[in-house]
Amino acid sequence: MALDRNVAPNDLNAFWMPFTANRQFKRAPRMLVAARDMHFTSAEGRQILDGTAGLWCCNAGHCRPRITEAIQRQAAELDYAPAFQMGHPKAFELANRVLDIAPEGMAHVFFCNSGSEAVDTALKIALAYHRARGEGSRTRLIGRERGYHGVGFGGISVGGIVNNRRHFGALLAGVDHLPHTHLPDRNRWTRGQPEHGAELADELERLVALHGAETIAAVIVEPVAGSTGVIMPPKGYLERLRAITRKHGILLIFDEVITGFGRLGAPFAAQFFGVVPDMITCAKGLTNGVIPMGGVITTAAVHDAFMSGPEHMIELFHGYTYSGSPIASAAGIATLETYREEGLFERAAAIAPYWQEALHALKGLPHVVDIRNLGLIGAVELDPIAGEPTKRAFSAFLAAYDRNILIRTTGDIIAMSPPLIIEKAQIDTLIGTLADVLKAAA
Ligand SMILES: Cc1ncc(COP(=O)(O)O)c(C=O)c1O
Repeated sequence: MALDRNVAPNDLNAFWMPFTANRQFKRAPRMLVAARDMHFTSAEGRQILDGTAGLWCCNAGHCRPRITEAIQRQAAELDYAPAFQMGHPKAFELANRVLDIAPEGMAHVFFCNSGSEAVDTALKIALAYHRARGEGSRTRLIGRERGYHGVGFGGISVGGIVNNRRHFGALLAGVDHLPHTHLPDRNRWTRGQPEHGAELADELERLVALHGAETIAAVIVEPVAGSTGVIMPPKGYLERLRAITRKHGILLIFDEVITGFGRLGAPFAAQFFGVVPDMITCAKGLTNGVIPMGGVITTAAVHDAFMSGPEHMIELFHGYTYSGSPIASAAGIATLETYREEGLFERAAAIAPYWQEALHALKGLPHVVDIRNLGLIGAVELDPIAGEPTKRAFSAFLAAYDRNILIRTTGDIIAMSPPLIIEKAQIDTLIGTLADVLKAAA
């Protein structure tokens, strides 16, 4: 008898799910079995409108033929090639295509398999870079409160989300944090970049005074913080961070795992904000989320610091079995072609004002205490239920799913980041359904 792929597996226990309320899920599973363009198909056959591009990654929408075919072709032609001391053309091609759209001054790409790996790679490159230049005392890494940089030990150490850190021991030594820039009292209901808070970048001067610039290797921030519940950079903030890091010889890393590949209507947030860091971490949209892949994009100065010593010697003792793997590279090339051919970054920029107005129409609904947006990112912050933090937003997420829209929540904040192919009518459906959910919950 033919297997019915729409039948839910009968034992859900074996799979320990990531960042999931496992017991709740397994009691009432939300199973997705297919996807196309803006929609998932659930196991019950419902069409679920994707308000989150999967996990901020399927920027071109789902099951795009060019990407699917590229993967199929590559799997049949060259399934794998050793990543160390050997090469294959597609990884080089993808690196060049990434640089074609990267901010000016970016000159090299180091591939890995995820955002977390990209972050740990960038932090290691920063430490080794200073050492290679004879400044080995620069070992300190600076992150930011509420920052999310994946789940490796490096990433959670520089990250600033309490629950991602406190269960996991002492973390990396020699890490400090800038204050976050979430200032609800001053910036509530802001459309786009908030007016207030640029001066928070000056806290870096305080950390420099405290630790000594000669001990600090790098500062890492998300240009727009996503996983913490969507925090936009105040106007002028990133510019100040750039000026201070440059003044003190500190590398600036932008973690663009969610902002890379068009989320703000420009290829990278660095271009959107007009602030170019020394390194950019990326993943997710690099392959449209289809195959795991991440990357660290660096300037020539960072890369070239390593290119000394005997030529037969490895310059950077770092890499992954799947760094730039053939299938991921093929997926990446096809993804970038899809973005370019369909003008998806420009499309995101063009539809962002409509998105903004739709989102801010939710103001005044029960328990909505703030709304924030930039590019095709939107957040709706809810008033937590007293004594039961996260429950109000999680309930909204469940109710939204029942009504055929996929949103995401962190804490009591609803975050949305739809594929860049979203149509105005679909924005209306997404936001209109969310409004119904919020009203029904009151
Ligand atoms: C800014 C940022 N950095 C890193 C990561 C980690 O990426 P991954 O889950 O691919 O390891 C994420 C994931 O959401 C992210 O938003």
